[in-house]
Amino acid sequence: MSARAQIGVTGLAVMGRNLARNFARHGYTVAVHNRSYAKTESLVAEAGHEGDFVPSESMADFVASLERPRKVVIMVKAGAATDAVIDELVPLLEEGDIVVDAGNAHFPDTIRREAALKEHGLHFVGTGVSGGEEGALLGPSIMPGGTRESYESLGPILEDISAKVDGTPCCTYVGPDGAGHFVKMVHNGIEYADMQLIAEAYDLLKQGLGASAAEIGEIFAQWNTGDLESFLIEITADVLQHVDAATGQAFVDVVLDQAEQKGTGRWTVQNGLDLGVPITGIAEATFARALSGSVPQREAGRSALPAHAQEWEVKDRDAFIEDVRLALYASKVVAYSQGFDQIAAASLENGWDIDRGAMARIWRGGCIIRARFLNRITEAYERDAALPLLLADPYFTDAVGNGLSAWRRIVAGAAQNGVPTPAFSSSLAYYDGVRAERLPAALIQAQRDFFGAHTYRRVDRDGTFHTQWSGDRAEVEA
Ligand code: 6PG
Repeated sequence: MSARAQIGVTGLAVMGRNLARNFARHGYTVAVHNRSYAKTESLVAEAGHEGDFVPSESMADFVASLERPRKVVIMVKAGAATDAVIDELVPLLEEGDIVVDAGNAHFPDTIRREAALKEHGLHFVGTGVSGGEEGALLGPSIMPGGTRESYESLGPILEDISAKVDGTPCCTYVGPDGAGHFVKMVHNGIEYADMQLIAEAYDLLKQGLGASAAEIGEIFAQWNTGDLESFLIEITADVLQHVDAATGQAFVDVVLDQAEQKGTGRWTVQNGLDLGVPITGIAEATFARALSGSVPQREAGRSALPAHAQEWEVKDRDAFIEDVRLALYASKVVAYSQGFDQIAAASLENGWDIDRGAMARIWRGGCIIRARFLNRITEAYERDAALPLLLADPYFTDAVGNGLSAWRRIVAGAAQNGVPTPAFSSSLAYYDGVRAERLPAALIQAQRDFFGAHTYRRVDRDGTFHTQWSGDRAEVEA
């Protein structure tokens, strides 16, 4: 077996297969391997004409077919399957070789694996890959972590196969060990928030206007020509206009209203809690999926809970549509602002030194949250790399400020009319919280001190204090 392949892919389910084809289509000689050889054979039979594939039946032959330093991309189910492949690979590799995990791994696993492989003199690159099946084939957004040294030889290949926006690759070095998978996790959290906000906008239009799915689809198609232009808005227009062949009804009306998840949104929220970063938009979106799937609770709620809501009478159709659009945009900015805060906090905690502007840049194309307004986020971090709050960047201050009354009208209208808008509402509450001169947190501190002597700080002098609540109520320095 001559070592002639420049990159290898093991795990040839649809994502791995499409990544392998993408490498081959870009002129790389690609070693391919799968646990069952039938998948490897079918890839070569069906896509062999697209480029140069080197199929192997055994892992040993697969490794032997790679040029050094070897670059092996693992594309298997996150978790135990990844560990099993790594265990099989490691004894076959040599110092300086690079193992790339392109699955949706949980970043603490990536940190653990990176440390373990370092002991063997190997580079472990946990990389986020976004864009689904089509992205993997035609150009995904790629978020690689690991050592800078590994990026020197691996990076150019990944940049080559990534999506391009204005000629710029949607791939860049993210940071050490788990940074790549962390950023992909937050991408998915933002994806959840974005999808929930779009779903709430759809519901508002449906309930406020009594519009049909197809009509709302047209509104989304229209929105996709402006500031909201994005992949998710585009596919929403498409989905809403799709008709179910079996019933002739709007497709969305025959789909069961219980949203599922594979766990990346949940991880994002768990991490937000660990870091103490209020990613409320992502959390509400994740809990909204949980509520939709709470079948017994929903059954009980549907029959027992009165609405006391008024009949929604929208007088000006066009003005209402514009209000929903502005509220959607503002809420979306909040979700991204929170997600980028989370990246900053994790970067600080883990010493990753992640460039947030660069993350927004590589999300402009290829990935699920690709959107026109990511350019604006990159520009904001270019203006100030240490920006503490994306919402406070002058562009976003204006953009959100212009939509503020619309946002308040929509959230208030939804509350009065009994339409659940957890993500719209919590985003507005975050906006009002983060801009408040003074928060009622002062009262919470006082209560904590009252029942638990947990102490408090004062606005007028330094130090930590306690009031002797059950005694003479004198204040003592703690
Ligand atoms: C991507 C997506 C992808 C994710 C799906 C499903 O960036 O290509 O984020 O990685 O697996 O969107 O996610 P849920 O099943 O959790 O909704």
